[in-house]
Amino acid sequence: MTRGRFITFEGGEGSGKSTHAGLLAQQLKQQGIDVIQTREPGGSPGAEIMRHIILSGAAKHLGGDAELLLFAAARDDHIRNTIAPALAAGTWVICDRFMDSTRVYQGIVGKTNPRLIRALERIVVGDYVPDLTFIMDLPADTGLARAQRRRGNSQADRFEAESLQFHEMLREAFRTLARQDADRCVLIDAGNPKPAVFDQIWTAVRSRLGVGGTARVAEGAAT
Ligand code: TYD
Repeated sequence: MTRGRFITFEGGEGSGKSTHAGLLAQQLKQQGIDVIQTREPGGSPGAEIMRHIILSGAAKHLGGDAELLLFAAARDDHIRNTIAPALAAGTWVICDRFMDSTRVYQGIVGKTNPRLIRALERIVVGDYVPDLTFIMDLPADTGLARAQRRRGNSQADRFEAESLQFHEMLREAFRTLARQDADRCVLIDAGNPKPAVFDQIWTAVRSRLGVGGTARVAEGAAT
C-alpha cells in the first residue's frame, strides 16, 4: 500500500486556511483520491481536550515552555490516532495548521527555546513532516478583521487576542519560513479572490504531487 500524501495549511488568523483546505479536499475526492481533513490543535479525541486547555488561555500563566509541551502532546496524540493510520491506509491527509505554527507562534514570536522546539519536532513529528505546506499570506490587519467578522460576538481566543504587532511578526515569520523551507512550502497570496487563490494551490498540488485534472471553483467571497 502506498502511503497517502500529507498536506498542511499554515498562516495567520483569517487567512483562508480552512476554506482552502476544504476546497482542496473536495477537489482531490473528485480525482478519486481518499482524503481526510483535520486540524491542530486537535484532530483526535485526546488532542481536542488539550485544544480546549490551550485556546481557553487556561495554560497561559504556566509559561511558554508548558504551552509548547501541551501543543506537542496534542500533536503526538493526533499523529498516532488520526494522521499515521490514515496515511498508512493510503488516504491523503489535509491538516489545518501543524508543526510550522509551533515554529512560528511558539518559536519565533513566542521566543520559546528553539532547541526545545527542534527536539520536540524530531521526537513527535519524526517521519510525519508534511509533503507539501501552503503558507497563506495576508496583511495582519486584513486577516484579523476577517477573523473578527467570522467570530461575531464570541470572544477572541488565546492567540487572536494578541496585539496587531504580534500578528505582523507572525506574518513575517511565516514568510521567512516559506523562503527557508522552499522545497516543502509554497507561499500563497491569500489576498486574491478565492478562485485565483485556489488556482495557485491546485497548480502546486498538481506539479509537486503529480495529480491531474482541472479545478473548478465557483466565484465567491475571498475568505
Ligand atoms: P484556531 O481556532 O484553530 O485558529 P485558526 O482558525 O487561526 O487556525 O486556533 C488555533 C490557534 O492556535 C491559532 O491562534 C494558532 C495557535 N497555534 C499555536 O500557537 N501553535 C501550534 O502549534 C498550533 C497548531 C496552533
